[in-house]
Amino acid sequence: MKSTHSTKSTLAMLAVLAGSVGVLAGCRGDRSDAPPRQFFPNMDDGPKWKPQTGSTFFADKRTMRPAPANAVAFGRTSAVSDDPWNKPWAEQRVALLREGEAEYSGTNGVNADGTPRYIDRIPIEVTPDLIKLGQTKFNVFCATCHGYDGLGKGMVGQAWSYGLPNFHDAKYKDAAQYTGKDGYIFHVARYGVITQGQQKMPGYAHALNEKQAWAVVAYFRTLQESRAVPIGDGAIPESERPALEEKMRQAASATAPAAAPASAPAAPAASTPTNTQGGGK
Ligand code: HEC
Repeated sequence: MKSTHSTKSTLAMLAVLAGSVGVLAGCRGDRSDAPPRQFFPNMDDGPKWKPQTGSTFFADKRTMRPAPANAVAFGRTSAVSDDPWNKPWAEQRVALLREGEAEYSGTNGVNADGTPRYIDRIPIEVTPDLIKLGQTKFNVFCATCHGYDGLGKGMVGQAWSYGLPNFHDAKYKDAAQYTGKDGYIFHVARYGVITQGQQKMPGYAHALNEKQAWAVVAYFRTLQESRAVPIGDGAIPESERPALEEKMRQAASATAPAAAPASAPAAPAASTPTNTQGGGK
C-alpha cells in the first residue's frame, strides 16, 4: 500500500520536474524580436559609449574626450622609485614632460618669418658611447637610403627617382644655413623631409627617441669629419694606415670598372642628373 503511494508521488514529482525542465529548455536557442525581460533593470541600461562612435551628449559629438592641453599621461610609473624595473617608465616620464624645448625638438623658438629656429649644436653631452649608438642607429635606419658613407648611394637611395643628397656637401656643414644646424638634422631624422606638402623622406621618430636621434646627429658629424681628415696628417695612427690605404685602393678599383659600363644601363646614370633636391656642390 504504502509503496504504491510513494511510487505515485515520486512519479508525479518526476513529471513536474520533467515539465519544468522542458519549459526552461524550450526557451533556449529560441529567437525573438521582443525586448528581453528585465527583472532588475536599474543597471541593465547604464549609458555607455564605444570609442570612435558619436555622442549626443557632448556638443562636439565626440565620444572620446580630448585630453586637456599639456596633460601628461603617467601610466603606472612612480616618479620616485630608483628600482631598475621602473627605469623605462621613469625615462618615459622625463621624455613626456619635455622640459627643455631644444633637447626635444631641436628648435629654440621661431624666426621672424615663423619658421622654426633650429639650434646650432647638439644640446646633450657627446661621448664616444653616444657616437657609437648613433653609428648603430644610422646604419640601421639611414644607410639603406643614404649609404653607410652618407653619399646618398644606399641600396634604396640608388633606386630613388632622384639623386639623394650628399651629407658631405657644404650646406650640411655650414651652421649659418639652417641645413647645417644640428637641430635641423635632428628634426629631419625624426620627422623626415616634407617639401610642398609631400613627404619626401620618412621620419624615424617611431624608431629613434630623442637621445637616439641626437646620437645619429653626432655620428652624422663624425662621418663628415672623417672625410675631411687627410690620411697623412697624423690623425690616423701609423699602424692603421696601410689597412686604410688598402681599403681605399679596393674601393677605387671597385667603382672604376663599374663606372665605365654604367653609361649603358640607366640606373646609376639617371639618378644623378635628375637631382633637384639634393643640392649638389
Ligand atoms: C627611405 C629612404 C630614406 C631613409 C631611410 C632616410 N632618408 Fe634622409 N632623405 C631621403 C630623401 C628622399 C631625401 C631628400 C628629400 C628631398 O627631396 O628634399 C632625404 C634627405 C635627407 C637630409 C637632407 C634634408 C635637406 O633638407 O636637405 C638629411 C639631413 C637626411 N635625409 C637625414 C637622414 C637621416 C639622419 C636618416 C636616418 C634616421 C635618414 N635620412 C633616412 C630618404 C631617406
